[in-house]
Amino acid sequence: MCGIVGYIGDKDSFPILIKGLQRLEYRGYDSAGVAISNVDEDGIQIFKKKGKVQDLLDHVGDKTPSGTAGIGHTRWATHGPPNDVNAHPHTARLGRLAMIHNGIIENYESLRTSLEANGHAFVSDTDTEVLIHLIEEVQSRADCSIVDAVQLALKEVEGAYAIAIIDASEPDLLIAARKSSPLVIGVGKENEYYIASDATPIIEYTPNVIYLDDEEVAVMHRHNGLTIRNLENTEITPEIHELEMQIEAIEKGGFDHFMLKEIYEQPNSILDSIRGRMNLQRSEIKMSGIDAHWDRWENAQRILIIACGTSWHAGLVAEYLLEDFARIPVEVEYASEFRYRNPIIRPDDVVIAISQSGETADTLAAIRLAKDQGAHVFGVCNVVGSSISRETDSGSYTHAGPEIGVASTKAFTAQITVLTLIALLVGKKKGHLSTQRFNRLLVELNAIPEKVQTLLKQDDRIREIAKRFEHSTNALYLGRGVNFPVALEGALKLKEISYIHAEGYPSAEMKHGPIALIDEEMPVIFVATADDIYDKTVSNIQEVKARGGRLIALVSAGNKDLKKLAEFVIEVPKTDQALAPLLTVVPLQLLSYHIAVMRGCNVDQPRNLAKSVTVE
Ligand code: G6P
Repeated sequence: MCGIVGYIGDKDSFPILIKGLQRLEYRGYDSAGVAISNVDEDGIQIFKKKGKVQDLLDHVGDKTPSGTAGIGHTRWATHGPPNDVNAHPHTARLGRLAMIHNGIIENYESLRTSLEANGHAFVSDTDTEVLIHLIEEVQSRADCSIVDAVQLALKEVEGAYAIAIIDASEPDLLIAARKSSPLVIGVGKENEYYIASDATPIIEYTPNVIYLDDEEVAVMHRHNGLTIRNLENTEITPEIHELEMQIEAIEKGGFDHFMLKEIYEQPNSILDSIRGRMNLQRSEIKMSGIDAHWDRWENAQRILIIACGTSWHAGLVAEYLLEDFARIPVEVEYASEFRYRNPIIRPDDVVIAISQSGETADTLAAIRLAKDQGAHVFGVCNVVGSSISRETDSGSYTHAGPEIGVASTKAFTAQITVLTLIALLVGKKKGHLSTQRFNRLLVELNAIPEKVQTLLKQDDRIREIAKRFEHSTNALYLGRGVNFPVALEGALKLKEISYIHAEGYPSAEMKHGPIALIDEEMPVIFVATADDIYDKTVSNIQEVKARGGRLIALVSAGNKDLKKLAEFVIEVPKTDQALAPLLTVVPLQLLSYHIAVMRGCNVDQPRNLAKSVTVE
């Protein structure tokens, strides 16, 4: 979703802003812009354009702006269509005050009406332009500094914001503030600061960052350093964190797309999620986030899992494992539905919030609700220092490293790995999982990274299969048990990046509707690895075959019976059925990837999608 970048210091800000915007492209956006102020020239130079960062650069042409304070933005349209006028930055005070904004100002209509009554004229449809005019209005009304005006204006605002402001009258200042929308400050050399909506634009300049908290305003001065105050004007002492991310992690490293790189990173990312938590020699799992709050887990009457998108699919896998291993009832909820339906939350509930970005607005709101009602909230996040990771009572990072491709791949398998460890640990501690089964599962889990590596060797073959389905218009993904969420995830991957309509279903549910869609054109992808109900799956496959559907079957290595039925068979290394999703999802990721590439789609930045959905 929208991206923010900003700089103040001794360097020229334009190249830093452009590089930062390119780093943020992965978040998904439809227009881009920059504003730069220069101590030697009066006024602010603004360039903004619908389209990609490259369109912005073409628009700038040889009129490259220069100046030591600047802000840049990639916009994902909420209020008003994507066009040049609605693109950020927005201005007030006759172009001498410029602002970029992520989030949504919910009371913008009433603010706009009262500002119009006071003579303010608006050129765009955005809530952002209303906010910068409100700041101008407050400043002239209170006859105060721009910093005071920002603090006062933000008190009148309802909704979410991460903002950055430059002022032509104060060219040595960069102001930033946030509420429910992420903002990171990079602390460079003396009196040099970078800001961004996530750490990716900052990492190449400095590992030292400050995560701004809600309702805090940071004032960065080119000579006088940084001060942070809250809206009540209390000074906050910032805590400086060190980023562990490496620059290589956010570059393609020889792969054509980030998505492919991230699919290939899975043997390592799964290993990183296991590392330090599982000790095979001692047959033990240690997770400090659970051990430290064991009383809450031990007495939990129910586990609620809250997530969106791919993370919700990981939650569905966890439901099977937690109920099986730990014998605690589990409900998996879409965060957006959960938060608005007056849910029953009890103090003896444990809530697991799963989020790659740790910033998804609905998931964040849902955990706040659960915390308010006394539940213990545990986060499974990938982005270190993210809002969800900081607001949960405890948690475990997935350690998958930065995921740049919009379609989630390595984060999904890392989430399942961590959730599997949780289910195993809780199951063992509660005495529902026999030592024998526990030990066997540890051995199997430990072998997963190598088995993923083996699967990746089938990439060329999967590309060949993809060629046969490149022109499909629909696809059906079917699976049972833990492989049902994998079917959902396979379908989601295909529709996200190739724009082919795809649905995932539990195999047996096919007879209650989707079977009507099956004809000679319809690809049906069965996740049919060996499990207790394999025979039932084979019957479902027969039913598709009888109706002429084009079958692709994912089977356990060595399986012979499905070769006769399916047009294509993809063999998956054998494992315990509980761990199958960590393997079966990989060929489905590759299949979607190759189909999308063949169709000429923008794999890493699919249309309309955002990596991190920071608005409701
Ligand atoms: C967006 C992303 C998905 C992701 C979902 C939830 O839709 O495009 O890849 O699964 O948000 O995001 P989260 O960061 O909370 O896992």
